[in-house]
Amino acid sequence: MPIDIVVGAHWGDEGKGRVVDLLSENSDLVARFNGGDNAGHTVTVGEKIFKLHVVPSGMIHPHTIGVLGSGMVLNPHTLLEEMAMLKESAIEITPERLWISDAAHLITPAHRLLDRAQDAALGKEQIGTTGRGIGPTYVDKAARCGLRAGEILDPEYFAERVQAHFARLDHLLSGWYRENGMDVEAQVWDFLEMTNAIRPFIRRIGPLVQNALSERKTILAEGAQGTLLDLEQGTYPFVTSSCTTAAGIFSGLGLGVQPVRSVLGVTKAFHTRVGSGPFPTELDGEMADFLRGSGANPWDEYGTTTGRPRRVGWLDLVLLNYAREVNGLTELFLTKLDVLSGLSAIPVCVAYQTGGRTFRSLDFSGDARQLAKCTPMYETLPGWQEDLRACRKWADLPANARAYVDFIEDHTGLMVKNISVSPERLALIARG
Ligand code: IMP
Repeated sequence: MPIDIVVGAHWGDEGKGRVVDLLSENSDLVARFNGGDNAGHTVTVGEKIFKLHVVPSGMIHPHTIGVLGSGMVLNPHTLLEEMAMLKESAIEITPERLWISDAAHLITPAHRLLDRAQDAALGKEQIGTTGRGIGPTYVDKAARCGLRAGEILDPEYFAERVQAHFARLDHLLSGWYRENGMDVEAQVWDFLEMTNAIRPFIRRIGPLVQNALSERKTILAEGAQGTLLDLEQGTYPFVTSSCTTAAGIFSGLGLGVQPVRSVLGVTKAFHTRVGSGPFPTELDGEMADFLRGSGANPWDEYGTTTGRPRRVGWLDLVLLNYAREVNGLTELFLTKLDVLSGLSAIPVCVAYQTGGRTFRSLDFSGDARQLAKCTPMYETLPGWQEDLRACRKWADLPANARAYVDFIEDHTGLMVKNISVSPERLALIARG
């Protein structure tokens, strides 16, 4: 069962990039199965910081093969930029090392314009998307008029489809959203040139991944965004447009249902969110500034993709339990425990109250309207003053930090197998 899945247990930004980077040391294939360049994975290796949006973070390890699955939407421009950036650090992304599914959908500049126009038109109901064209590309996919990567392999047919795509979206943007018309011919030309550069990477990946599995190769599937942004189970409508939960790996890689070895949920020691939507434990004022950081460090709570300050709040175990249920989590990886150092007391949400009822996991599927009506109930744990960044063993942690981790385990029934205490690759407490 050599499949391991890493998913975010919150609304994204849990620190999955570094977790994947760590686990891919012992993986052969590293695969993305959902989303697009709305994801932002930061990996710190020594002095170098890599911010990746499309290339799987595990590809920083030269022995890995990267897979971009059919569940993804792919911006060729971002992919090519990332490849060039990695090349500067002597990391070569060749067609032998990166396989792009022929069924992945392509994001065009027109999708991005439409994404922004649509979200702006929602006024105060805005989702606060990343503006990367994700929603409109998945809409085209579901409406059966999207552009698939495999079409690039048939240049004449693809050129016609691209022409029709830009003409249709230009019509929609200028007619409905009153945007300035675009130069369709120039856009078509640019897009064809760009997509031509990724042609050697495209193939049917399902059988390749299956073969790898039968050769006992290990696969690490790297979920993007987080559980609560899932199109079905997330805080709808404040969600992204793809399946962000562990189950998405099978259709998103074109695999049959297979046994998996682990479903690892990445959770921060507190909650964060970007974009709009309910956030029961959200904080403001000084405490929010404390958890968010000043923005001076790359690991402070500012979006990797958009640079927006993230909303921050106390750890919410109701939502963490929900993430356990909808993903089938088998273990937790706790990140950013070091950020809580210096607090005298740390509230943790253990239940919600709404309409005279108290509950410890959601009895509705994410729905934003219902979540907004829930009042968090807290238990307060004692804090600690010690700097955790040099801790490398469980015993190095102060007793109250250990008690905080124990509390999470007791309330979720999951073992916290790893704890990270700074962005550096090795700043980790592994608990076997
Ligand atoms: P979209 O995915 O750009 O359509 O944005 C939909 C919602 O998901 C917005 O609230 C975004 O801020 C959020 N979102 C999308 N990708 C990420 C991510 O990688 N991390 C955190 N939030 C994200």
